[in-house]
Amino acid sequence: MKKLTPLSLALFLMTASSHSMAEMSVDHSKMTQQDHEMMMKHLGMAEEEATPIVNDQRELVLFPEAEYHLTLQNMRDHLRGVNLALMNVASGDYVKAAEAIEQHLGFGNSHGANGLHSAREYMPSGMQMLGHGMHTKANALATTLRDAEITEDSQEIFLKMADLTSQCVACHDAYRLGAE
Ligand code: HEC
Repeated sequence: MKKLTPLSLALFLMTASSHSMAEMSVDHSKMTQQDHEMMMKHLGMAEEEATPIVNDQRELVLFPEAEYHLTLQNMRDHLRGVNLALMNVASGDYVKAAEAIEQHLGFGNSHGANGLHSAREYMPSGMQMLGHGMHTKANALATTLRDAEITEDSQEIFLKMADLTSQCVACHDAYRLGAE
């Protein structure tokens, strides 16, 4: 079987992105398993080769099963919050944008099966700090959004949004999760 070299991975990513550009209106969430396999065959890849083998240097952090699933669910909710905030900023509704950030990314956002921040105890301290930093940046963004109702300062919103998403990127670059 052909090994996935960095070059073939790059080619795959290029093919995949031009593919999705050409079919922008296709809803990939409606893809069946069969469709997926067809696409992989079309791209010359068997199912087992579809997982990119990259040199993953991220630290593996193990959570108990329930915390693992709840944390990933919480992560998806974080992304939803960023998305909702951006949509509301785009339509000029800064207060709604602030509410989306507070609700989906603020300090009140619970982690873990046993309520508030119970997953924290399984995190290495660097990860805890990045998580805390994320909530701090989220609060700063929410304040800026509420101010923007008066100032209309979109530059400041972008700055705070970049600060916030830098925390997501930093943590994702450093850690990965597993269930034990
Ligand atoms: C303190 C660390 C940390 C921060 C901060 C963080 N994440 Fe994550 N996130 C993770 C880890 C760890 C994973 C699992 C990655 C893996 O195992 O490959 C993850 C996974 C995810 C996933 C995938 C969820 C799934 O179902 O697989 C999404 C989406 C996500 N994060 C969004 C965000 C967004 C958006 C932000 C910032 C607003 C954010 N995360 C901030 C640590 C973090």
